[in-house]
Amino acid sequence: MPHFVKPAGGSWTAQYPELGTGPVDYTDSIDPAYYEAEREAVFRRTWLNVGRVERVARTGNYFTKELAVLGTSLVIVKGTDGQIRAFHNVCRHRGNKLVWNDFPGEETSGTCRQFTCKYHAWRYNLSGELTFVQQEQEFFDLDKADYGLKSVRCEVWEGFIFVNLDPDAPPLLDYMGELAEGLEGYPFHEMTEVYTYRAEVGSNWKLFIDAFAEFYHAPVLHQKQATKEEAEKLLGIGFEALSYDLKGDHAMISTWGGMSPPKDLNMVKPIERVLHSGLFGPWDRPKIKGILPDELPPAINPGRYATWGTDSFEFFPNFTLLFWAPGWYLTYHYWPTDVDKHIFECTLYFVPATNTRERLAHELAAVTFKEYAFQDANTLEATQTMINTRVVKEFPLCDQEILLRHLHKTAWDHVNAYKKEHGLANGHATSTASEKGAINV
Ligand code: FES
Ligand SMILES: [Fe+2]
Repeated sequence: MPHFVKPAGGSWTAQYPELGTGPVDYTDSIDPAYYEAEREAVFRRTWLNVGRVERVARTGNYFTKELAVLGTSLVIVKGTDGQIRAFHNVCRHRGNKLVWNDFPGEETSGTCRQFTCKYHAWRYNLSGELTFVQQEQEFFDLDKADYGLKSVRCEVWEGFIFVNLDPDAPPLLDYMGELAEGLEGYPFHEMTEVYTYRAEVGSNWKLFIDAFAEFYHAPVLHQKQATKEEAEKLLGIGFEALSYDLKGDHAMISTWGGMSPPKDLNMVKPIERVLHSGLFGPWDRPKIKGILPDELPPAINPGRYATWGTDSFEFFPNFTLLFWAPGWYLTYHYWPTDVDKHIFECTLYFVPATNTRERLAHELAAVTFKEYAFQDANTLEATQTMINTRVVKEFPLCDQEILLRHLHKTAWDHVNAYKKEHGLANGHATSTASEKGAINV
């Protein structure tokens, strides 16, 4: 049943009894043993978004993806048959990394007809088949057909490329479920002006999702993003989302639009007035189909509120998709590199600008969002250092923090299911903290 309206006198969280309402244990964000379990149980078994089809628009376009959490590097490439495939980025001869540029640890992209290994020049075609072996006659009973690149499951949803290292995982569409189905038809393919940035953040990956899955912090942490009067007003009101929805492992929060465009131009800073952009991105809708309020797919602004401004979808484990009322979207990815570190990636997608003002509006939005993320990231590093002390392990979450409760429970559920399958002791009851036994991951 959709939960688009908060019941009178009730709470969002109470509609999902399995979440509980007790304080939440954050051992999952500090314990190295938990992190090791999570790598196997979550990242090696779920669908991970690695980018968009526009990155491999033509035959031979490829890019690599470094996945420290899985201890591997992948190469994603478009074949001559138009299919997008993913392979482990490893040469079958003696294991050299097949595709890299100047630095083997850095991601790269490009176009080629075949991949040639830098070490002894073995070659693979775009379907991953081994096509050439240097001094082939010197090898012993080597059948090239046995030495193709190791492939990885790769499926596409609405132009988003996903990979999965688990041969037994359900198909991508089943995994993405109802929330994703409700987004289908959004004109993603029109939004091809892309701004991207990435940073290594000194916090567990889930803490950054926590920061984007609630806006309860926004009037406080980001108050300097607004004019002084506006910030004070927002603080006084506090934050209340329009609606929340949880479907399986995934969840979304829908909220009001604030200043996009502002009701009163005095609410915003002069540069925003000039460029028609700022705190909530560009104000003006591009002229394309599919982004007007009544054209949006059903999962976006599910309550159909006139005051709607943005929706944030959290696809488990590490893919956030945010839609903005003026017709643009952004993605966040959080790639763990250790229990208390991850690489954060933000990518903003706009319909290509048709004039200078539009272009500058996009640029201002990109810069503003980077500033936001810095503010969040600083706080996360401060949080990580203190939860690491284990002086306090359980934290009370409010009703506006329902998605955090859901995220941490979902991660625990995956870890526990994995441990059960492998005959390992269950480390955690997945409901409220008060029901939990000793942590034993
Ligand atoms: S390791 Fe690749 S050709 Fe030898
Ligand atoms: Fe924030």
